[in-house]
Amino acid sequence: MKALVTGAAGFVGSTLSRRLLEQGHGVLAIDNLSSYYDRPLKTRNVESYSALPGATFIEADLNTVDLDALLSDGIDVVFHLAGQPGIRGSWGQDFALYTRANVDATQRLLEASMRYGKLQRFVYASSSSVYGQAETYPTTETMLPQPFSPYGVTKLAGEHLTGLYRANYDLPTVAFRFFTVYGPAQRPDMAFTRFLRAAASGAPISIYGTGEQVRDFTFVDDVVSALTLSGQSPKALPPVMNLSGGSSVSVNEVLDTIRDVSGKNLVVDYVDAVKGDVTRTGGDSSLALTSLGWAPQTSLSEGLKRHFDWILATQ
Ligand code: NAD
Ligand code: UGA
Repeated sequence: MKALVTGAAGFVGSTLSRRLLEQGHGVLAIDNLSSYYDRPLKTRNVESYSALPGATFIEADLNTVDLDALLSDGIDVVFHLAGQPGIRGSWGQDFALYTRANVDATQRLLEASMRYGKLQRFVYASSSSVYGQAETYPTTETMLPQPFSPYGVTKLAGEHLTGLYRANYDLPTVAFRFFTVYGPAQRPDMAFTRFLRAAASGAPISIYGTGEQVRDFTFVDDVVSALTLSGQSPKALPPVMNLSGGSSVSVNEVLDTIRDVSGKNLVVDYVDAVKGDVTRTGGDSSLALTSLGWAPQTSLSEGLKRHFDWILATQ
C-alpha cells in the first residue's frame, strides 16, 4: 500500500508512519510542524522513520498545499491524523486554530480525495471528546454525541464531514474515536508525559480538580494496529468505531501506577478543574473487534513502563 499520512510529525502520526514503513509500505508523510508544541520534538519524531525505505516527508500545510498533486502520486490510503489537539486550550481566540486545522483542512482533504477517486480507505482520527458527558458507560457509537469542549465540536464536525463524503460520494471513510492515547512520543501537554517527566525530575505534578476523573487510556501501539488493519481490510467498514484501551481508571489511580512503575515518590498539587474536561470516558470497542478483529493488547502498567522508558531515554 502507498499511504498518505497527515500529521506525520505528531505523536500518533509518527508512530503510525514508522509502523507502516516497517511493514514495507510506502509513506508520503506530511506535516506543517505547527507551533502547538516544540518543533525539535516533531523533527525528532520524523527522524525516527524518515531514513527507512519508502519514506518521503514533506513540510506543508494541508490548508494550502496542492492536495491533488499529493494524492496523484499513487496514494491508496489516507490516514488523516493532522489536527489541532488539546481539549483545555480550545476556548477563546484559539478556537480559530481548531476550526482551521480540524474542520477546514479535513474538508479540503475530503474534496481532493473525492476528486481523486482511487482511495481504498480514508481514515480519520476522531476523538472520545465527541461524546462529552456521556449518558452511559461503556459508551457505544450509537450514543448521541454531545461534545463538552470547543475542541470536541471541531472533531465531531470533521467526523460528520467524513461521513457525508462517504454517503454522497462513496468515499470509503472510517472515523476512529481514539480514547486518550499514551505511550512513547506522547505530546508534552498531555497528562502522562507531564506526570512521568515530573516523576523523573522530582518536580510537582498538577492535578486538575479532584483527580477522580476517569479516562479509558489507550496505548499508542494498539491504536496504530487498528489504523493499519483498517487500511488493509478489503471489507466495507462501519463509518465510526471506538478505539478504547479497556483500562478505565481515575487520574489518582494512574498516580499509584506511576509510583510503582517509576519507583519514585510524587509531589502532587491539586488545582482547579479546567473547563471542558469531562468526568469520565469509557468506550465499548466491540464494533472494532467484530469489524477488524481488533482489541487492545497493552495493560496500563505495561504501557506506562514503556512510556517511562521513553521519558528517561529522551530527557
Ligand atoms: P499531535 O499534535 O502530536 O499531531 C498532530 C500533527 O498535525 C502535528 O504534528 C501538527 O503539526 C500537524 N498539523 C496540524 N495542523 C496541520 C495542517 N494544517 N497541515 C499539516 N499538518 C498539521 O497530536 P496527536 O496527539 O498525535 O493527535 C493526532 C490526531 O488524533 C489529532 O487529529 C487529534 O485530534 C486526534 N486525537 C488524539 C488523541 C490523543 O489522545 N492523542 C485522542 C483523540 C483524538
Ligand atoms: C486527550 C487528548 O489530549 C485529546 O486531544 C483527545 O481528543 C482526548 O484525549 C480524547 O480522548 O478524545 P485528555 O483526556 O484531556 O485529552 O488527555 P490528557 O491530557 O492525558 O488528560 C487526562 C486527564 O488528566 C484529564 O482528566 C486531565 O484533566 C488530567 N490532567 C492532565 C491533569 O490533571 N493534569 C495535567 O497536567 C494534565
